[in-house]
Amino acid sequence: MTGLPADLIPLTHGISPAGPSTPPMIPQLGLGTYKVVDDDAEHVVLAALELGYRHIDTAQMYGNEAGVGRALAASRLQREELFVTSKLDNPNHRRDDALRSLDATLDALGLDFLDLFLVHWPLAMSAGIDLVDTWRTMIKILDSGRVRAIGVSNYTAEHLHRITEATGVVPAVNQVELHPWLTQESLRSIHERLGIVTQSWSPLGRGQVLQDPVVVQIAQDLKVSPAQVVIRWHLQKGFVVIPKSVHSDRIRTNGDVFGFTLSQEQVAAIDALDRGQRTGSHPDRVQV
Ligand SMILES: NC(=O)c1ccc[n+]([C@@H]2O[C@H](COP(=O)([O-])OP(=O)(O)OC[C@H]3O[C@@H](n4cnc5c(N)ncnc54)[C@H](OP(=O)(O)O)[C@@H]3O)[C@@H](O)[C@H]2O)c1
Repeated sequence: MTGLPADLIPLTHGISPAGPSTPPMIPQLGLGTYKVVDDDAEHVVLAALELGYRHIDTAQMYGNEAGVGRALAASRLQREELFVTSKLDNPNHRRDDALRSLDATLDALGLDFLDLFLVHWPLAMSAGIDLVDTWRTMIKILDSGRVRAIGVSNYTAEHLHRITEATGVVPAVNQVELHPWLTQESLRSIHERLGIVTQSWSPLGRGQVLQDPVVVQIAQDLKVSPAQVVIRWHLQKGFVVIPKSVHSDRIRTNGDVFGFTLSQEQVAAIDALDRGQRTGSHPDRVQV
């Protein structure tokens, strides 16, 4: 079994200074698992691993870490071939809860360590816990050696500045909603300045972006699917991208994006689709 020919992007922040001299490398293309129920997660994730995916994105909130773990075990891949991300759930921000929840996550996944652990949402205040407190807990977790890198998700510029100024530790990645209708240009410029890797969630706009006439036209011109066009756009923009599907034919074609290239004009035409349109919750308005 060989992996997808996806690029590996080094994580240069949010990693242990005492760790190996080479930084952890995140495969630029992975599989998302939001709304993949635990009973389906084993066969969906196993199909992806057999098709060459090596990067799996799950979360405590998704309730499917055990199913993902069964797939990892069934794949018989070596641990160092895999890149597994999970995320701290909103009710688990207190230090004791965070540590216990990480134990449960590792147990469910059948792993000794995570490659990347993210704070799922920037809960500015969760039962008296400030997001700087949460980040200090993440740093403690990093120091424990049970995660290779720590990062955040759904953080705005203000959230990023608060935690980095308070602790001096920059997150490895910020996983945010990002697709052709929401290109997050100003947040991305802050990521670039701080050295944070941009990771796109809902990279297909939950499927809605695939009907955009500009995307459909480019797909026809290149004789590929609209999903392949959009995933290729994320890759050429330098984002880490984690499209989700429960269908093995879609998982396969979504990973088959290394045999064609978008022209500069096609990339620019997709860039121009930005209209600030979210398909998920705004970071400041998430339900907890
Ligand atoms: N950090 C966060 O707060 C956060 C929030 C949301 C998502 N995420 C992560 O990001 C991942 C991706 O986001 P997402 O799942 O919300 O949305 P997405 O990947 O943008 O879109 C998934 C939707 O597109 C459909 N789809 C996939 N491939 C397709 C294809 N080739 N042709 C047509 N339709 C296709 C899927 O349907 P089928 O499954 O039926 O194929 C599903 O309905 C998640 O799974 C999760 O891991 C993180």
